[in-house]
Amino acid sequence: MTETTPISRREKTAERLLKSSAARSYDPEIDIDWSAPLAEDKYFLPEHRVSLYGTELWDRLSPEQRVELGKHEIISITSFGIYAEVALMHLLLKVVTDGDPTTRHAQYALTEVADECRHSTMFGRGIEKSGVKPYLAPWWFRHLLNLALLLPIGPATYGGTLLVEEVTDRLQRESLADEDIQPTIRMINRIHVLEEARHISFARAEVTRMTSILRRSVLGRVVLAANRLGLALAAPGLVRLMLHPDVYRAVGLDPKQARKVAKANPHHRESVRWMGERMVNFLTEAGMIKGPLTKALWRRSLLLGAGR
Ligand SMILES: [Fe+2]
Ligand SMILES: [Fe+2]
Repeated sequence: MTETTPISRREKTAERLLKSSAARSYDPEIDIDWSAPLAEDKYFLPEHRVSLYGTELWDRLSPEQRVELGKHEIISITSFGIYAEVALMHLLLKVVTDGDPTTRHAQYALTEVADECRHSTMFGRGIEKSGVKPYLAPWWFRHLLNLALLLPIGPATYGGTLLVEEVTDRLQRESLADEDIQPTIRMINRIHVLEEARHISFARAEVTRMTSILRRSVLGRVVLAANRLGLALAAPGLVRLMLHPDVYRAVGLDPKQARKVAKANPHHRESVRWMGERMVNFLTEAGMIKGPLTKALWRRSLLLGAGR
């Protein structure tokens, strides 16, 4: 995208984020005690965030099965998180090759790639520690990820980044403060939340910068509308991919039927809306969620509440 806004603001943001990265970053290889055994009496995901919580199916599960389902759901979300981070790394590397590598924002993009490399390694180790196999995304999705480099960078790409980062951020913030959650998971969440705050600032600043440039011309407004629609089309699929239907098989439930129950479950619907709340408010203010078609697609993702 052509740069017509004052460079200083973008560079200032990147400079601040670079300083913060240098001052406050973790090395999960050292900062997490991977040899510590899992606690027997702790949850992997707060019970009220499990997709079947509050349903008849939930009532029929034993306390052990409920913990087990929570474990599989968080492993599914974490597996998806790795794919999302890999896609973001592709995008950020393109920021470097598209422009001037001596700028602060290109250097911050590289710093964020380094963060995401550590995160994906940390998530992989966390999955391994849980004893549950990762939930692999469909093959076509994994191939699409490798094509992320070919996508033009626009507000939809950073909007999609925010969708994944802010949804997981809200869930992780709640879990890290919950003493009933496995200590290793709480530490993973603490590290991720601290470092993701910078990524969210960067992606939000880029959405604001890009949308304001696009609003200035007729062609720009057409491109903006296409970005708005593209992001809205992707939103329901991204949310769906986070919870692999096979998680239900782990507790002896039929994946198709259980997924239907989860989708109709008011607790689950409210959880998804809650996880997306801050991101949806931001994207609405930035003009990325607007108009009946876009809103209908966002409502389908459950991230936008029924009344909006
Ligand atoms: Fe991350
Ligand atoms: Fe991130």
